[in-house]
Amino acid sequence: MLINYHLVRRFLFKLEPERAHSLTLFILRQLARFNQVKRFTAPLKDDPCEVMGICFANRLGGAPGLDKNAQNIDALGQLGFGHLEVGGVTPRPQPGNPKPRLYRLPADEAVINRMGFNNAGVDKAVEYLKCRQYKGVVGINIAKNRDTPLDKSAEDYVYCVKRVYPYVDFMTINISSPNTPGMRDLQNQAYLADLLVTVKDEQQRLADQYKKYVPLVVKISPDLDDTQLAEVAGTLVSQKIDGVIATNTTLSRPPLVSPQSKEAGGLSGKPLGSLSTEIVRKLYGLLPKTIPIIAVGGIMSPEDAIAKRRAGAQLVQIYTGLIYHGPPIISAIMNHPDFIAH
Ligand code: FNR
Repeated sequence: MLINYHLVRRFLFKLEPERAHSLTLFILRQLARFNQVKRFTAPLKDDPCEVMGICFANRLGGAPGLDKNAQNIDALGQLGFGHLEVGGVTPRPQPGNPKPRLYRLPADEAVINRMGFNNAGVDKAVEYLKCRQYKGVVGINIAKNRDTPLDKSAEDYVYCVKRVYPYVDFMTINISSPNTPGMRDLQNQAYLADLLVTVKDEQQRLADQYKKYVPLVVKISPDLDDTQLAEVAGTLVSQKIDGVIATNTTLSRPPLVSPQSKEAGGLSGKPLGSLSTEIVRKLYGLLPKTIPIIAVGGIMSPEDAIAKRRAGAQLVQIYTGLIYHGPPIISAIMNHPDFIAH
């Protein structure tokens, strides 16, 4: 018997959003111990694919932010995702911004967050990564600590890359969170090439050491203008980056009706969808076909996921859509013939 998510949501939406998130993960973890998470999902059709040399069971993944510390991989994995991107993690633990820092905008099917990379540090995440049972693909989203100056950020990324390398299938260099002051400046030419040269060098050294190549992808913001996007794309190509994730949350505010729309932070969900898809479409035109695009941002229905695929994405990820539509959106996307067939 499938559990009705709309009843669950009525209860969860009465709770403060961050509390609802941790309670949901706690319950999923308990269900996962007895292999019962599947009660939330319909059976999924097979749709295996190879991207960046990695075999994915299907093209839908869970986006970073869902599982900051990698503690819930088995629980989220049982929902049927082909991959999970855990994190973002920083070298040292940090508390993030003061609460409240997460807002639902139900009338807009959106969320605003200014979490600020609250996480227990990369070493804690590695402990959880080591003991996962989930057989799907696991990537990790890597960020710098808030108090690390921009010109020292490469050290933070390299530190995390070294720690996680043996335990993950891909690594994401996050330079697009709007909630760490200055972080998005790392997308500027002045920083990006140097940062990627340093991290790619470390990746090569670790590939030789472990005799295993772990792809490195970069996650970008939806707020780049055409010139910035072209510059970023050029740098990704010249540095031989293995993939790009588009996009993070937006600081822009498309017309919104919810009173919470005035809150500071990154906007995700429905109002981000078309902005994010446009970035995917432009990137697809700018990048060689050897650099795959992973699309995330405003997937609230199978049609939204199909639009990302049509814009050029090989894989897609979801976060806010799960908050509003729950696990049934996973099977709705994955079993949609146009999503599989594209
Ligand atoms: C996020 N997101 C995010 N992204 C990232 O690269 N590292 C992170 O740590 C986080 N953390 C995070 C927390 C919360 C509460 C939210 C809502 C989002 C961004 C997320 O991965 C995704 O890029 C955007 O939310 C857009 O996708 P959706 O939510 O519209 O499907």
